[in-house]
Amino acid sequence: MNESPNFVTLEVEGKSVRLPVVIGSEGEKAIDIGSLRRETGYVTLDPSFMNTAACYSQITFIDGEKGILRYRGIPIEDLVRKTMFIEVAYLLVHGELPNEEQRRNFSAMLNVNSMLHEDMRHFFDHFPQGAHPMHILSTMINALAAFYPNVDLKSMSEDIDLSSARLISIVRTMAAFAYKKSIGEPVVYPRHDLSYCANFLNMMFDSPVRPYQIHPEAVRILNILFILHADHEQNCSTTAVRTIGSAQVNLYATISAGISALSGPLHGGANQAVIEMLKMIQADGNVKKFIDMAKDRNNPFRLMGFGHRVYKTYDPRAAIIKKECHDYLERTHYTDPLLEVAREVEEAALHDSYFIERNLYPNVDFYTGILYRALGIPENMFTVMFALARLPGWVAHWKEMIGGETKIVRPRQIYIGKTPADTVDVMENREPLLH
Ligand code: CMC
Repeated sequence: MNESPNFVTLEVEGKSVRLPVVIGSEGEKAIDIGSLRRETGYVTLDPSFMNTAACYSQITFIDGEKGILRYRGIPIEDLVRKTMFIEVAYLLVHGELPNEEQRRNFSAMLNVNSMLHEDMRHFFDHFPQGAHPMHILSTMINALAAFYPNVDLKSMSEDIDLSSARLISIVRTMAAFAYKKSIGEPVVYPRHDLSYCANFLNMMFDSPVRPYQIHPEAVRILNILFILHADHEQNCSTTAVRTIGSAQVNLYATISAGISALSGPLHGGANQAVIEMLKMIQADGNVKKFIDMAKDRNNPFRLMGFGHRVYKTYDPRAAIIKKECHDYLERTHYTDPLLEVAREVEEAALHDSYFIERNLYPNVDFYTGILYRALGIPENMFTVMFALARLPGWVAHWKEMIGGETKIVRPRQIYIGKTPADTVDVMENREPLLH
């Protein structure tokens, strides 16, 4: 961040206020309105933070107009070609890619912390059949605070290596256990000899009667998907993590809130919603009908996996996933008719003036589900996959937030409700309570 010598001047009720201009390292400009209320009595109004930078951050940069995404200055295109997910996790949390020794130590910590407290396993038995794995996951993460009660805010921030390794590793174990529970199979424990992604696939699909063959190509694809989902600056769930964390809540409860935010269909839940939508379109056979429904203001239907608050061009993650999806299906001779439906929908939308005028392009979720299907991941686990991948991003933002001078997050509002003049009759006609 460069401190710009520039100021902007705002005229409020005849009074001039000089507000500093702040410029980020990629040239983004902002007006620092910190003194506005003190000097004028006014606040700013920006519902859903469409136009508000809520913090400084050094973690991730997005240029939504150019379709650029970088973690700690490194383009995601390079990261997917040259790194493993756990290296990216380290990069996000620590600011640098690990050297060989740091990578080995981080791997060892992931292994040591991969087991779930044995008593926690029994929790899984008490969720109703059919419970969504995202609800199970957020509950279980919250419960971690009860099993690791000595991990308070101070020790967590001092030993961020341990707390991040425990979370990143244990969430993977929980996710696989939740899946095994949902299909009535015995759980498979993590193995120290397997990489992060291979371990996850093994815990998901190995069984006493049908040993799982770990396919290196499946591991590679999962690695890419996880890297592409690992962070996305101030999205809804990360904002939830920063907001809740600012009250000095423990890290587990904070991450649990992030998982809950991610589960919504407008956020991470969109990857599952896309597949449900593509199936509907496939069954109906009429792509145009669904495009028209998405354009109709009186119809709540939206084209899932399309549009983004920040990207006004093709989401760079979607571009990589689309290509990997096509190549993986071809190489493994796996046929998914939904890929053809997805291509038709994309083609139709990208040539339609409604989508063109609003800059609506496929986002990260549009092709992701097709790849997950090809890996054998069931649909209700898609958003869980997103959560596993986003864990390092949430931890990195939490660490940055508590390490800075963050005050508790507490926006203002513009009250538009009743005044005492509106309620005076109600209260005048009411007898006082006899205590
Ligand atoms: N289908 C049809 N119309 C759309 C869509 C869509 N998917 N997305 C936006 N629009 C229209 C919207 O109706 C509005 O039109 P108008 O200007 O006539 O009122 C205009 O485009 C701007 O949309 P918005 O809702 O104001 O944009 P937003 O920034 O508030 O919402 C979004 C962003 C991602 C929630 C939205 O595009 C959407 O609902 N997309 C579908 C759900 C989805 O794919 N979510 C995943 C997002 S990426 C991954 C993640 O964040 O987890």
